This record gives sequence, C-alpha cells and structure tokens, in this order.
Amino acid sequence: MTVANMDYKELGKSGAKLPVLGLGTWGMGGFSSMRSGGDDRAVQALRLGLELEMRFIDTAEMYASGHSEEVVARAVGAEREKVFIASKVSGENLSYERVLRSCNSSLARLQTGYIDLYQVHWPNPSIPISETMRAMERLLGEGKIRHIGVSNFSVEQTREAQTALSKADLVSNQVEYSLLDRSIEEDLLSFATGQHITIIAYSPVGRGQIAKGRGRRWEVLEQIAGKYGKTKVQAALNWLIVKEAVVTIPKAASLDHVRENAGAAGWKLTREDQTALNSAFA
Ligand SMILES: NC(=O)c1ccc[n+]([C@@H]2O[C@H](COP(=O)([O-])OP(=O)(O)OC[C@H]3O[C@@H](n4cnc5c(N)ncnc54)[C@H](OP(=O)(O)O)[C@@H]3O)[C@@H](O)[C@H]2O)c1
Repeated sequence: MTVANMDYKELGKSGAKLPVLGLGTWGMGGFSSMRSGGDDRAVQALRLGLELEMRFIDTAEMYASGHSEEVVARAVGAEREKVFIASKVSGENLSYERVLRSCNSSLARLQTGYIDLYQVHWPNPSIPISETMRAMERLLGEGKIRHIGVSNFSVEQTREAQTALSKADLVSNQVEYSLLDRSIEEDLLSFATGQHITIIAYSPVGRGQIAKGRGRRWEVLEQIAGKYGKTKVQAALNWLIVKEAVVTIPKAASLDHVRENAGAAGWKLTREDQTALNSAFA
C-alpha cells in the first residue's frame, strides 16, 4: 500500500501537531439518527485513513444521535494514543451542566478517557458563551478534553469565545470552506490566521460535487491538477491546506475516495496555480 506523505500543522498556538488531512464522519453510522447496515464499511474506511496517516477524526454527539462516536471507537480500537479525536457538543447543550453531561456521554461512546479537541458545534445566542466556556475549562482542568474549539462561529462570535476563556486559548473554528464556498475569505480566514486559530475546513469536497463538476472552471481545475499528476479532488483539497491556518476533514466511506484524499498532502500547488484557481472559482 502507498503510504501518504502527510504534512502537519500546529493546532492554534497549542504546540500540538495536527495532520493537515483528517477524516470526517457525518453519515457514518447514520445522519441525524442512527442507521444500521453501514458500520463495517465506515470502520474499514476510517482504519484505512488512519493507516494513510490521516490520524485525525472529526465527529459529534449529534452525528447519528451519538452512534457515529461509537463507530469511531471501533475504528480506533487500541490505537487511541496515536489518533487525534475531535468531537462536538451540540448548540442546544451549551448550558454549564449540559456541556459536562454531553462530554461524559461522548467519552463513554468513544470509549476513551479524553477528547483531543472539544468543539461547540454551533452558536446558541440564548446561552451566554461565558457559561459554556466555564464548563469547557472545567473539562480541560479535569483532563477530559485537551483543547477547546468552536464551529460555525463568525468573527464576532469567535472573539467573544476567546474573551470568555480565562485559562486556555481557543485553538480552532470549524467552518465550511472549499472552492465552492469561499465565504470565510471575506473576514474569518484572515482573522483566524492573525490570531493563530486553526480553521478546520468542512465539506471540502463540496459534499461530493467537486468530483462531478462540468464546465470551464472544472476544466481549469483538471488541467492544473494534471500538471502534478493529481485529480481534481486532490488539487481542490491541496488548495485548502496550502493556506497557513487551514486543515481539512473530507468524509469518505469509499476506500478509493480515502486513498484519493490521502494523496492531497505531501506536495504544494504553486502560487500561480492557486491564483488561477481563485479566478476560476471566483
Ligand atoms: N461543524 C459542522 O457544522 C459540520 C458540517 C458539515 C460537515 N462537518 C464535518 O466535515 C466533514 C466533511 O464534510 P461533508 O461530509 O459535509 O462533505 P465532504 O467531505 O465535502 O463530502 C463528502 C462526500 O463526498 C464524497 N467524496 C469524498 N471524497 C471523495 C473523492 N475523493 N471523490 C469523490 N467523492 C468523494 C463522499 O463519498 P463517500 O462517502 O461515498 O466516499 C461523500 O459523499 C463531515 O463528515 C463532518 O465531520 C461539520
């Protein structure tokens, strides 16, 4: 088997090293509720991803109503110390007590004593972020989580989350980012880069669309990818991870897709090619 040439980036200012390519799990074990039948395939895909050095798995208590975390536990097995696991507490569970309860439930489903990165899945304006972050810092103090992150937070909400933390740094914000959705380039990307907050780009394959696109801009992508002996998806993922603050978490249940995605690291699009893609996908 070809082993990927993985690259690593610092998670926020934490000193921890994160592979630039992780493994998404939305749809593994089910979507918003548990669905039986696909677990073995998902476990196999995650294990292949780990073998190919994508040793970073992103999940959430909400995915498959918690069952996705159980699938992750199966895939990781005895390799726990060698895998960076990120999970998320849902927006409706952001009160102090609920954050603590959600984390304990996630730990049980993940069959682990700690979560490497615990993220607020989406903001909830009815609960002060200071309350949520107090609970997050308690979990950090107890060793149940190693780092604190957010997801789907605007610049303003990210600032508030940073300010609400008294003992720890906010290390990451997980947001949608791909050639097909570049809205974070308006402000969040430069803010995060300046603050040393890692952007974890979700839906980087445009939920599969990047492999299927037809027309002029897709020809540009294919032609640029071809110069490096790469596919459209590999070039689209590389376009994300060449950016200083960005890592990404494509989800793939197909083994061929996992292999293809792993080939997005270990090389770099030139600045000229990045610019050409920026114009084609403006
Ligand atoms: N924080 C949030 O609110 C949030 C929101 C959305 C997603 N996420 C996270 O981000 C992860 C990734 O996002 P996503 O699942 O929405 O979208 P995605 O990774 O852009 O796309 C996943 C889809 O693309 C297909 N795919 C993957 N690699 C491919 C390849 N090389 N060639 C062709 N098709 C390929 C997959 O097919 P197969 O599965 O059949 O291989 C799947 O249908 C999620 O799984 C989740 O962990 C977080």
